[in-house]
Amino acid sequence: MTRRYPIDVCQTDSQDAVSRQITWHEVPIKLNLQTDKAALKRSLAEQLKAQDAVLVAHYYTDPDIQDLALETGGCVGDSLEMARFGQEHRASTVLVAGVGFMAESAKILSPEKRVLAVHDEATCSLDLGCAPEDFKQFCEAHPDREIVVYANTSAAVKAQADWVVTSSIALDIVRHLHAQGKKILWAPDRHLGSYIQKQTGADMLLWQGSCLVHDEFKADGLTALMSEYPDAQVLVHPESPASVVALADVVGSTTQLLRAAIKHPADTFIVATDQGILHAMRQQAPGKTFLAAPTAGESATCKSCAYCPWMALNSLDALHERLKQPGPGIQVDAALREGARRSLQRMMDFAAAQQNTLRVSADLAEHSKQFQDVGAA
Ligand code: 13P
Ligand code: SF4
Repeated sequence: MTRRYPIDVCQTDSQDAVSRQITWHEVPIKLNLQTDKAALKRSLAEQLKAQDAVLVAHYYTDPDIQDLALETGGCVGDSLEMARFGQEHRASTVLVAGVGFMAESAKILSPEKRVLAVHDEATCSLDLGCAPEDFKQFCEAHPDREIVVYANTSAAVKAQADWVVTSSIALDIVRHLHAQGKKILWAPDRHLGSYIQKQTGADMLLWQGSCLVHDEFKADGLTALMSEYPDAQVLVHPESPASVVALADVVGSTTQLLRAAIKHPADTFIVATDQGILHAMRQQAPGKTFLAAPTAGESATCKSCAYCPWMALNSLDALHERLKQPGPGIQVDAALREGARRSLQRMMDFAAAQQNTLRVSADLAEHSKQFQDVGAA
């Protein structure tokens, strides 16, 4: 069984301007075969150990998958943390519970490891809406710009980029490039791009993609909920539309939103991102109340439908199927691998330098001095 979802696909015209088109994509409905969850989890933990595999999960996946990852020594994180954890872990197999670009990035960063995706059909609307050939034309029309792409893209798009960024580090990297006087070509998420453009003042030309989950958050519904809960803090992922981001107390990656939920003294939070993250928020900030921000929904009865259909494919049953028949795992075309690795590793190096700097000094001048040579072409 499948369901259909609309995807923003971009096209460049004869003036090299980029415009939005809508196309449709079929997504399988998640399997639900096993009923004895505890026994299944025990068996999965044993199989992970037997196959020397570590489970690296995103916050949007099934709560059982998140718990299993933590119980078996894996991790639950945002895209950047998942990439870092998979690269640094000693296991010979990295099992990625997330979407395709996350597994592909893990393979690019660790070509010597076997990298498995829990579900082969878990992709992302941003990735689907940024075809490598169309993106090539866009880049060729603007050769004076530094090419910065969001991690939610294929290896073929990353291979054309100077930098890869995730939502947790995009602001810092663009600020760094802007300070060097660079003009930026950005893809694919137009909302994240325009948020970064506003925050940094950088000259950014934006691809017109969007995330089908975050695109659904609506400012009027959110305003109504905020007036019901006037003391609530509003946590928003920057893939959301600008009118929603404008209402936020905190804008950030999934991990940054989780940290805010833990640290902020408020006891109620309205959360505008995939509802999968509410599991980690409720576990790590017990006693606090978390409300899902309203979306347009699919019908009048749906108040918040913020679930990524591809992340939802990462069930315990799908993991069981994968471990039964793991196969050779993700393969990345050799012709693309080096280019994609370069732009991804640049981000990893920048993030590592940033962490070191923050540890050593909180002084901002010192901070930007240390970044000067990171990622130099
Ligand atoms: P994060 O890197 O913030 O976890 O975001 C990934 C993603 O796909 C959000 O929709
Ligand atoms: Fe892609 Fe949106 Fe799903 Fe994240 S939530 S993986 S951006 S479709």
